[in-house]
Amino acid sequence: MTKIPTRNIHPGMIVKNDVKDRNGRILLPQNSSIEEKHIRVFKMWGIFEVDIEQSEDDSEEMLETSNLSSKEIKKASKIISPKYAKSNINNPGTKALFKQNALLVAKNLNKGEDAESDDGLSLPDTDGDLEQEEKFFQEINLNSILDNEIKLFTLPDIFYRLTEIINNPRSSARDISYVVEKDTALTARILKLVNSPFYGFPQKIETISKAVTIIGTKQLTTLAMGISVLELFDYVPSNYLDMEKFWKHCLAVGICAKLISEQIDYSESEKLFVGGIMHDIGRLVMLKKIPKQTAAALKYAWDNDMFLSRAEKKCIGLTHSKIGSDLCDSWKLPPILVDMIKYHHQPAQGKYNLECSIIHLAEVIVNALEIGTSGEKMVLYLNEKSWKNINMSSNAIPPIIEQLNNEIDPILELMR
Ligand SMILES: [Fe+2]
Ligand SMILES: [Fe+2]
Repeated sequence: MTKIPTRNIHPGMIVKNDVKDRNGRILLPQNSSIEEKHIRVFKMWGIFEVDIEQSEDDSEEMLETSNLSSKEIKKASKIISPKYAKSNINNPGTKALFKQNALLVAKNLNKGEDAESDDGLSLPDTDGDLEQEEKFFQEINLNSILDNEIKLFTLPDIFYRLTEIINNPRSSARDISYVVEKDTALTARILKLVNSPFYGFPQKIETISKAVTIIGTKQLTTLAMGISVLELFDYVPSNYLDMEKFWKHCLAVGICAKLISEQIDYSESEKLFVGGIMHDIGRLVMLKKIPKQTAAALKYAWDNDMFLSRAEKKCIGLTHSKIGSDLCDSWKLPPILVDMIKYHHQPAQGKYNLECSIIHLAEVIVNALEIGTSGEKMVLYLNEKSWKNINMSSNAIPPIIEQLNNEIDPILELMR
């Protein structure tokens, strides 16, 4: 069973479960074959996705592969194979991801586009001078980094006010509306997002108070927290990592995490959206506060085909997950958010195991498809326990990727 966006369903597909409107009224009973008129009714009632009984062949159809030759697909598989060298290709999730990745690259080849992407990185050149690199790492004093640099990193003021609201069980809809409405840029971004097809509410939401009543106080506060960190990406002058691409990576992980949560009927998808947006906040802090060391770790990872976290540990002694989560702890962020930031690379260790696993899977997907960049060159190893824990069919990977590719640029645009 796979949830398919309504715009991608076609007559002849079979609905796995009853399709109901928001009031619980059945629009089409389970096991019915979809006709053109049903699709119109779904759209009219704001049904944005439907559980479909899907075969493997249907999944491939999603990518309109009919005009791709097997030669192109083979060539694409060859191109992407090296970056999967450290991943677990036998895992059903990784396998499905590889297949979709190859099809997307083949599609580009078919269109005559260059398969090589601009990675958004320009690494410092030490001409392989090991002595110079060694000296550079020796100069790093870990304690001084932590005491003098990283701890000085602050979030936007509104973020702290939102944290107070979310941590206070007595917070009301009024409190959140009052805080958010004072920030016109944030208000505009939230309203654009909740009125976009990504949320897909049938009625127009014109005010924050209306958004609170529809989405819920906690959910809207969480969403506002995630959107408010956007401005942090503006203040990082990085010579090494294209910050627009880095923001795209973070936003894509948020969108992908939300899409995964919808597939498995996890109800509080805002938390995952925000967890995704913030998962690499440690790397943002590092780029801002210790840019040279961060660039050196990036280079080390690239030169040695190593995962970035490992290279950070080796070169700096700390990973971005640890730096990010320690800071978030000190900012008194909700524990679930801290956990997602801390364990997105080791999801099985998280207390909020399912949430950490979803962020992890989302990052594996986004990283493999090279949507934006965080500097990671190799496709990450998908944690087997996490994959089992999420308990999602690998048939869900193609529609998630398709929806992610459709949503990312419009959302990026409306968050500007
Ligand atoms: Fe990431
Ligand atoms: Fe990360």
